[in-house]
Amino acid sequence: MIGDDAGPARHSGTRTSEDGRHVQRIAVLTSGGDAPGMNAAIRAVVRSADARGVEVYGVHRGYEGLIDGRVSFLSARSVSGILHLGGTMLGSARSERFRTVEGRRAAIKQLQANQIEGLIVIGGDGSFRGADALSREGGIAVVGMPGTIDNDLSGSDYTLGFDTAVNTALEAIDRIRDTAASHQRAFFIEVMGRASGWIALCSAIAGGATEVLVPERPTDIDELQHRIHQAFAIGKQYCLVVVAEGDDAGGAFEVARRCGEGLSTLSHRVTTLGHVQRGGPPSMRDRILAARLGDAAVSALLDGDDRVMVGEIHLELVRTPLEEAWSTVHHTPPELLDLMDRLAR
Ligand code: F6P
Repeated sequence: MIGDDAGPARHSGTRTSEDGRHVQRIAVLTSGGDAPGMNAAIRAVVRSADARGVEVYGVHRGYEGLIDGRVSFLSARSVSGILHLGGTMLGSARSERFRTVEGRRAAIKQLQANQIEGLIVIGGDGSFRGADALSREGGIAVVGMPGTIDNDLSGSDYTLGFDTAVNTALEAIDRIRDTAASHQRAFFIEVMGRASGWIALCSAIAGGATEVLVPERPTDIDELQHRIHQAFAIGKQYCLVVVAEGDDAGGAFEVARRCGEGLSTLSHRVTTLGHVQRGGPPSMRDRILAARLGDAAVSALLDGDDRVMVGEIHLELVRTPLEEAWSTVHHTPPELLDLMDRLAR
């Protein structure tokens, strides 16, 4: 049900969508792994809709909260002071119940009971699959905003949170370099990204790493051992190997273990950066992206669009069919991998 803070209904100035429907009331939720910039995105959705006379309701704890009817009105003032905060004021969840037809039926009932005409879903591929099902089964218009540190969605050059996560990884890599150089050590640094190598590759290039292991390229352990030895042989004082968690060799600890014997003469350590990459204030890039995409998501709903993701490609705002966003793989470009290899010599 709509929460107590719903406030008075405000129906003035509603817009007419292209098919003649008056869109008066929309909802927004964040789902899946949180990402820096989600709060800025919620704020942008609420303020942009408010400026166009459309009411926004916030769904708390993603699809899980939707099933339970945890919906409340978000005024323009209610999203003050959140722009710079990591996490999501709405909370998030990975909902098992929503994967079932019964769960989705309950969610649809809640949307209907609250007269929600369109839903903006900020999340990653799993969240978009859920949104797609909601639209098909419940007839509710859905628009996706790419919110994940993994940068693994097609239809946007960058996803919300990716830039901040890379900067966080980068800061850690810079610090590890200090101690690695002092001890002439090799470090295996694991970063997040699920099945995508974007965080690994970008933080490796920006951090001047010696090697990067990504899911997009098979890892040859013998070759890696050889290159690490070579790095020290040509006078490097340290060796930083950035390992994407989805790399086919099994993560940083496993890579270090498998390199094992070949590295016995070298001192080496393993660091897993983990969830530290998900938190913290969003970068300027993520805040601007959130502002643009939040506004664009509201426009898409007012235009009568359904099952699309808003994104930014070459700085242009674009809409991509939701299914394409998750089913077409957004691989790291081979030329960036080549660049990494050339600069790490
Ligand atoms: O999708 C974002 C992400 O942080 C991935 O990079 C990572 O594999 C996963 O979520 C971790 O999920 P959880 O927070 O559920 O452990």
